[in-house]
Amino acid sequence: MTEPSKRKEPEQPEMRPHVYDGIQEYDNRMPNWWLWTFYLTIIFSAIYWFTRYDAGFIKMEEEKMDAFIAEVEEARLAARGDINADTLWDMSRNEGFVSQGRTVYQNYCMACHGENLEGGIGNNLVDEQWVWGNTPMSIYEVVANGSPDRMSGMQAWMGDLGAQRVNQVVAYILSYHDPESLADASTENDPIAE
Ligand code: HEC
Repeated sequence: MTEPSKRKEPEQPEMRPHVYDGIQEYDNRMPNWWLWTFYLTIIFSAIYWFTRYDAGFIKMEEEKMDAFIAEVEEARLAARGDINADTLWDMSRNEGFVSQGRTVYQNYCMACHGENLEGGIGNNLVDEQWVWGNTPMSIYEVVANGSPDRMSGMQAWMGDLGAQRVNQVVAYILSYHDPESLADASTENDPIAE
Protein backbone atom coordinates (compact mmCIF):
# COMPACT_ATOMS: atom_id res chain seq x y z
CA MET A 1 0.00 0.00 0.00
CA THR A 2 1.23 3.37 -0.82
CA GLU A 3 -0.14 6.56 0.46
CA PRO A 4 -1.38 8.72 -2.28
CA SER A 5 -0.24 11.95 -0.67
CA LYS A 6 3.37 10.82 -0.65
CA ARG A 7 3.26 10.34 -4.34
CA LYS A 8 2.21 13.79 -5.18
CA GLU A 9 4.46 16.11 -7.00
CA PRO A 10 6.61 18.03 -4.55
CA GLU A 11 4.40 20.92 -3.67
CA GLN A 12 5.35 24.27 -4.98
CA PRO A 13 5.58 26.51 -1.92
CA GLU A 14 2.82 29.03 -1.95
CA MET A 15 3.75 32.68 -2.20
CA ARG A 16 2.07 35.37 -0.16
CA PRO A 17 0.34 37.92 -2.30
CA HIS A 18 2.30 41.02 -1.34
CA VAL A 19 5.53 42.23 -2.91
CA TYR A 20 7.74 44.85 -1.30
CA ASP A 21 10.61 46.22 -3.29
CA GLY A 22 10.48 43.16 -5.42
CA ILE A 23 10.76 40.89 -2.37
CA GLN A 24 8.20 38.15 -1.90
CA GLU A 25 7.55 35.78 0.99
CA TYR A 26 6.73 32.11 1.06
CA ASP A 27 3.58 31.35 2.96
CA ASN A 28 5.29 28.74 5.15
CA ARG A 29 4.27 27.70 8.61
CA MET A 30 6.68 28.71 11.35
CA PRO A 31 8.90 25.72 11.99
CA ASN A 32 8.08 23.82 15.17
CA TRP A 33 11.51 24.27 16.67
CA TRP A 34 11.08 28.00 16.27
CA LEU A 35 7.60 28.03 17.78
CA TRP A 36 8.72 25.94 20.72
CA THR A 37 11.69 28.16 21.43
CA PHE A 38 9.27 31.05 21.43
CA TYR A 39 6.78 29.32 23.76
CA LEU A 40 9.55 28.19 26.09
CA THR A 41 10.91 31.71 26.46
CA ILE A 42 7.42 32.83 27.48
CA ILE A 43 7.13 30.01 30.01
CA PHE A 44 10.65 30.70 31.26
CA SER A 45 9.94 34.41 31.69
CA ALA A 46 6.85 33.63 33.77
CA ILE A 47 8.76 31.20 36.00
CA TYR A 48 11.63 33.65 36.28
CA TRP A 49 9.30 36.47 37.24
CA PHE A 50 7.55 34.49 39.95
CA THR A 51 10.71 33.12 41.52
CA ARG A 52 12.80 36.28 41.37
CA TYR A 53 10.19 38.88 42.21
CA ASP A 54 7.28 37.18 43.90
CA ALA A 55 9.18 34.65 45.95
CA GLY A 56 11.42 37.46 47.09
CA PHE A 57 14.89 36.45 45.97
CA ILE A 58 15.52 40.01 44.94
CA LYS A 59 14.28 41.18 48.31
CA MET A 60 16.77 38.81 49.92
CA GLU A 61 19.56 40.54 48.06
CA GLU A 62 18.26 43.89 49.26
CA GLU A 63 18.07 42.65 52.82
CA LYS A 64 21.66 41.44 52.63
CA MET A 65 22.64 44.88 51.41
CA ASP A 66 20.68 46.58 54.20
CA ALA A 67 22.32 44.34 56.79
CA PHE A 68 25.71 45.24 55.36
CA ILE A 69 24.93 48.96 55.44
CA ALA A 70 23.75 48.55 59.05
CA GLU A 71 27.07 46.90 59.94
CA VAL A 72 29.06 49.71 58.40
CA GLU A 73 26.88 52.22 60.23
CA GLU A 74 27.38 50.29 63.46
CA ALA A 75 31.15 50.44 63.10
CA ARG A 76 30.95 54.14 62.30
CA LEU A 77 28.81 54.85 65.37
CA ALA A 78 31.00 52.70 67.61
CA ALA A 79 34.05 54.65 66.47
CA ARG A 80 32.48 57.95 67.47
CA GLY A 81 33.71 59.10 70.83
CA ASP A 82 31.06 61.73 71.48
CA ILE A 83 27.80 60.59 72.95
CA ASN A 84 24.81 62.85 72.60
CA ALA A 85 21.10 62.59 71.95
CA ASP A 86 21.61 62.24 68.20
CA THR A 87 24.22 59.49 68.39
CA LEU A 88 22.10 57.61 70.92
CA TRP A 89 19.03 57.80 68.70
CA ASP A 90 21.12 56.66 65.73
CA MET A 91 22.39 53.70 67.75
CA SER A 92 18.84 52.86 68.80
CA ARG A 93 17.88 52.53 65.12
CA ASN A 94 20.84 50.26 64.37
CA GLU A 95 20.20 46.53 64.37
CA GLY A 96 23.64 45.60 65.68
CA PHE A 97 23.57 47.97 68.64
CA VAL A 98 20.04 47.02 69.57
CA SER A 99 20.59 43.27 69.43
CA GLN A 100 23.82 43.50 71.44
CA GLY A 101 22.05 45.86 73.83
CA ARG A 102 19.32 43.25 74.28
CA THR A 103 21.94 40.73 75.38
CA VAL A 104 23.46 43.19 77.84
CA TYR A 105 19.98 43.97 79.12
CA GLN A 106 19.13 40.31 79.62
CA ASN A 107 22.37 39.69 81.51
CA TYR A 108 22.49 42.75 83.73
CA CYS A 109 19.17 44.57 83.88
CA MET A 110 16.31 42.15 83.33
CA ALA A 111 16.31 40.88 86.93
CA CYS A 112 15.18 44.28 88.18
CA HIS A 113 13.55 45.89 85.14
CA GLY A 114 11.62 42.89 83.85
CA GLU A 115 11.77 40.76 80.73
CA ASN A 116 9.93 43.33 78.64
CA LEU A 117 11.28 46.40 80.46
CA GLU A 118 7.98 46.55 82.30
CA GLY A 119 9.65 47.13 85.66
CA GLY A 120 9.78 45.26 88.96
CA ILE A 121 12.40 46.18 91.54
CA GLY A 122 13.54 48.83 89.10
CA ASN A 123 11.14 51.03 87.25
CA ASN A 124 9.31 50.58 84.01
CA LEU A 125 11.48 51.69 81.09
CA VAL A 126 8.83 51.59 78.36
CA ASP A 127 6.09 53.74 79.83
CA GLU A 128 6.02 57.49 79.38
CA GLN A 129 7.08 58.29 82.95
CA TRP A 130 10.64 58.89 83.94
CA VAL A 131 12.24 59.69 87.28
CA TRP A 132 15.50 61.23 86.14
CA GLY A 133 14.53 62.78 82.86
CA ASN A 134 12.82 62.15 79.54
CA THR A 135 15.93 62.66 77.41
CA PRO A 136 18.33 60.11 75.89
CA MET A 137 21.25 61.66 77.78
CA SER A 138 19.53 61.47 81.16
CA ILE A 139 18.82 57.77 80.57
CA TYR A 140 22.45 57.38 79.57
CA GLU A 141 23.63 59.21 82.71
CA VAL A 142 21.55 57.08 85.07
CA VAL A 143 22.85 53.91 83.46
CA ALA A 144 26.48 55.03 83.27
CA ASN A 145 26.74 56.78 86.64
CA GLY A 146 23.86 55.33 88.61
CA SER A 147 20.83 56.99 90.13
CA PRO A 148 21.55 60.38 91.73
CA ASP A 149 19.59 58.96 94.65
CA ARG A 150 22.31 56.78 96.12
CA MET A 151 19.82 54.89 98.27
CA SER A 152 17.67 53.83 95.32
CA GLY A 153 19.53 50.68 94.44
CA MET A 154 20.47 51.60 90.89
CA GLN A 155 24.22 51.34 90.67
CA ALA A 156 26.57 52.94 88.14
CA TRP A 157 27.16 50.51 85.29
CA MET A 158 30.06 52.11 83.47
CA GLY A 159 32.62 50.27 85.60
CA ASP A 160 31.07 46.83 85.10
CA LEU A 161 30.06 47.17 81.47
CA GLY A 162 32.43 49.64 79.86
CA ALA A 163 31.46 52.38 77.40
CA GLN A 164 30.53 50.14 74.50
CA ARG A 165 28.02 48.02 76.39
CA VAL A 166 26.53 51.07 78.11
CA ASN A 167 25.91 52.56 74.65
CA GLN A 168 24.36 49.32 73.48
CA VAL A 169 21.99 48.90 76.41
CA VAL A 170 20.87 52.54 76.24
CA ALA A 171 20.29 52.07 72.48
CA TYR A 172 18.21 49.01 73.35
CA ILE A 173 16.02 50.99 75.78
CA LEU A 174 15.65 53.83 73.26
CA SER A 175 14.63 51.37 70.56
CA TYR A 176 11.30 51.17 72.42
CA HIS A 177 10.84 54.94 72.12
CA ASP A 178 10.93 57.69 69.55
CA PRO A 179 12.08 61.31 69.87
CA GLU A 180 8.58 62.83 69.87
CA SER A 181 6.97 60.60 72.47
CA LEU A 182 10.04 60.69 74.72
CA ALA A 183 10.04 64.48 74.63
CA ASP A 184 6.32 64.42 75.55
CA ALA A 185 6.83 61.96 78.41
CA SER A 186 6.64 63.15 82.00
CA THR A 187 9.59 63.30 84.36
CA GLU A 188 9.62 63.52 88.16
CA ASN A 189 12.87 65.46 88.33
CA ASP A 190 14.31 67.83 85.77
CA PRO A 191 16.37 65.79 83.31
CA ILE A 192 19.82 65.25 84.76
CA ALA A 193 21.27 65.67 81.28
CA GLU A 194 19.94 67.22 78.11
C1 HEC B 1 19.32 45.66 91.41
C2 HEC B 1 18.24 46.09 90.57
C3 HEC B 1 18.57 46.86 89.29
C4 HEC B 1 19.34 46.45 88.26
C5 HEC B 1 20.13 45.15 88.12
C6 HEC B 1 19.27 47.52 87.26
N1 HEC B 1 18.47 48.52 87.71
FE1 HEC B 1 18.00 50.19 86.69
N2 HEC B 1 16.97 50.87 88.29
C7 HEC B 1 16.77 50.18 89.46
C8 HEC B 1 16.06 51.01 90.39
C9 HEC B 1 15.63 50.62 91.79
C10 HEC B 1 15.82 52.23 89.71
C11 HEC B 1 15.12 53.46 90.28
C12 HEC B 1 16.18 54.48 90.61
C13 HEC B 1 15.61 55.77 91.16
O1 HEC B 1 14.40 55.93 91.20
O2 HEC B 1 16.42 56.61 91.56
C14 HEC B 1 16.42 52.10 88.42
C15 HEC B 1 16.39 53.09 87.45
C16 HEC B 1 16.85 52.94 86.16
C17 HEC B 1 16.71 53.94 85.15
C18 HEC B 1 16.11 55.32 85.31
C19 HEC B 1 14.66 55.29 84.92
C20 HEC B 1 13.97 56.63 85.13
O3 HEC B 1 12.76 56.56 85.24
O4 HEC B 1 14.61 57.67 85.14
C21 HEC B 1 17.26 53.42 84.02
C22 HEC B 1 17.34 54.09 82.66
C23 HEC B 1 17.75 52.13 84.36
N3 HEC B 1 17.49 51.86 85.67
C24 HEC B 1 18.40 51.28 83.47
C25 HEC B 1 19.03 50.10 83.87
C26 HEC B 1 19.88 49.34 83.01
C27 HEC B 1 20.19 49.67 81.57
C28 HEC B 1 20.33 48.29 83.75
C29 HEC B 1 21.29 47.21 83.31
C30 HEC B 1 22.58 47.63 82.83
C31 HEC B 1 19.74 48.38 85.05
N4 HEC B 1 18.96 49.51 85.10
C32 HEC B 1 19.91 47.48 86.03
C33 HEC B 1 17.19 48.90 89.73
C34 HEC B 1 18.03 48.17 88.96
